[in-house]
Amino acid sequence: MYEQVSHSLLNQILTDLKPEIHEEDLRHFYTRLGANFYSIYSLFTVLYGKRDDFQRQMQKLVETMARQYIQRPDHLKESDIARGQDHNWFLSQEWVGMAQYPDGYAKNLPELQQRVHYFLELGVNMVHLMPMLVCPKGASDGGYAVSDFRRIDQRFGSLEDLQNLAGEFHKHGILLTLDVVLNHTSNEHEWARKAREGSSKYQDYYYIFDNREVPDMFEVTMPEIFPETASGNFTWDEEMGKWVMTVFNSFQWDLNYSNPAVFIEMLDIILYWANQGADILRLDAVAFLWKKIGSICQNEREAHLLLQLMKDCCQVSAPGVLFIAEAIVAPVEIIKYFGEDAINAKECEIAYNATYMALLWDAVATKNARLLNQGIKSLPDKLERATWLNYVRCHDDIGLGYDDNDIRAVDYEPRAHRQFLIDYYTGKYADSLSRGLPFGHNDKTGDSRISGSLASLVGLEAALDLGDQAEIDNAIKIILLLHGMIMSFGGIPLLYYGDELGTLNDTSYLEDPAKANDSRWTHRPRINWDKAQLRNSPGTVEYRLFSALKKMIAVRKEIAAFADFNNRELLDVGNPHLFVFARFKYAQPTSRVLVVANFDSSPQHLHLRDIERKAYFRNGAIRDLYSGEKPAMFKEELVIPPYRFYWLTDQ
Ligand code: GLC
Repeated sequence: MYEQVSHSLLNQILTDLKPEIHEEDLRHFYTRLGANFYSIYSLFTVLYGKRDDFQRQMQKLVETMARQYIQRPDHLKESDIARGQDHNWFLSQEWVGMAQYPDGYAKNLPELQQRVHYFLELGVNMVHLMPMLVCPKGASDGGYAVSDFRRIDQRFGSLEDLQNLAGEFHKHGILLTLDVVLNHTSNEHEWARKAREGSSKYQDYYYIFDNREVPDMFEVTMPEIFPETASGNFTWDEEMGKWVMTVFNSFQWDLNYSNPAVFIEMLDIILYWANQGADILRLDAVAFLWKKIGSICQNEREAHLLLQLMKDCCQVSAPGVLFIAEAIVAPVEIIKYFGEDAINAKECEIAYNATYMALLWDAVATKNARLLNQGIKSLPDKLERATWLNYVRCHDDIGLGYDDNDIRAVDYEPRAHRQFLIDYYTGKYADSLSRGLPFGHNDKTGDSRISGSLASLVGLEAALDLGDQAEIDNAIKIILLLHGMIMSFGGIPLLYYGDELGTLNDTSYLEDPAKANDSRWTHRPRINWDKAQLRNSPGTVEYRLFSALKKMIAVRKEIAAFADFNNRELLDVGNPHLFVFARFKYAQPTSRVLVVANFDSSPQHLHLRDIERKAYFRNGAIRDLYSGEKPAMFKEELVIPPYRFYWLTDQ
């Protein structure tokens, strides 16, 4: 029944469209639309089927896909076809990413283009440029409050500059990742302005209320995202005389996706950036897309349906483009953003592995891998053709989003343990050299998160101030250990710009009133390119980190077992300080690499007999692929020095 309705509607829409588009070669468009239409129609019906304007909106959706397909440049259409033929291309171990603020890495886009050689030098071949669109002059949540989804802020350059940069990236085999901030606009966006002027059409783009009745109902169950700076989830707009839902900051108005017009506008924006040459789109804050009274308004089923619909539509117009889900939510929830009950990823092909990130930070503070092992054991397998984005630091805070059951399973008390971590990373704990800053402290719940650059969090800043060579060495080892973990786990490692040089906290944000109350700015650096030259001077921190990471990246790219096909086995070795897992080459289980990491400040031993399938290692022939050396052995025991990792093979 559904099928019949959807087919006759499709035929009608295509007949209506024909006069406009008959000139074009729409062969691929028609094939893909045919293949995806049933799913698109079904999802659109579940979400919007009860509306009177359903048919008209459905028509508009198809028009949007067709128009963007027609506008898609030929070279991108060719790349869509090539990627379709090699559809697991992004699971390869050859991808290594870096995230950055374009104006922190360079002055603007043309200057960034001059610095492409730096990515090539390090081995980075996927670059995520954080938002650079027009946004409010003062506070703009680091550009995540967008005032015009299609206009690059002139501080960064022009659209042409971005297209040139995309061209340069592609010439060198670098993937371009851009943000699409789906959940909200700034309060200066044209839609918000029109809503404020009284347009009911645009008031329907947001959640706007005359009085506190509905907002109060929402507030009962909605948590606060930025409790210190933006308490509550609604803001009174004086000019409009109404309340607006603002889950993040007061100047970020949440979009109302129960209105199909909003969905279509945002799909159009996704396809627009796909057509400017983005290979990957990072969909910001996707957990928040659907709001429901009585819920926490995160991870709602409809948020998943919206993403599935976006993916299906993108499959029609720009199928080579991947989505990254930025969903920093509970471990069991994150995995759902790949899509559920499907063989192939049906929502986002890539998701931030916030679970692994937070667990790694736990291992550093506790100097053991108990919670890390437990948390990874609880992590369900992903779908096929889906991959993690593994990272240590990013532009955001570190949230302590562990599963309480996992914390209890390793004999900690959740609240006390989280407090320990906050104390440790803010340097309050006696034994800690960490210089992190608290972020997002919530007086009501006692929750807190952590800001700080990687180097400052692992004690490098304090060690340099103390002139303590041993602690400097330790901090460097921990930075490399953490990177060794994200490079071998399975997924795309995402470095954060500046970490490859040991960039410390930057407190200059405190002088800018628009930033002073947001400690995340302490780890959003402006690269000092004179200092970066030290990466060529042996003995310096910059050299030690940069050259080691460069080597690590090069070695990773050679290890086929590091490609991501859910080919990882966690090994319980009975030593709480060690995190040990095996990676298998796809379809060749005997070709494996054993990853062994010691989070402790003392050397640890691992009895090779303790490892299952020991037979794969021919005694004495073990080699660490990262260092190229034979690891230290004592009798049958492998010795792992403090804060060291091995990528072991016998081949
Ligand atoms: C994402 C961004 C973060 C921003 C938030 C609201 O989580 O990474 O920086 O504050 O979305 O847009």
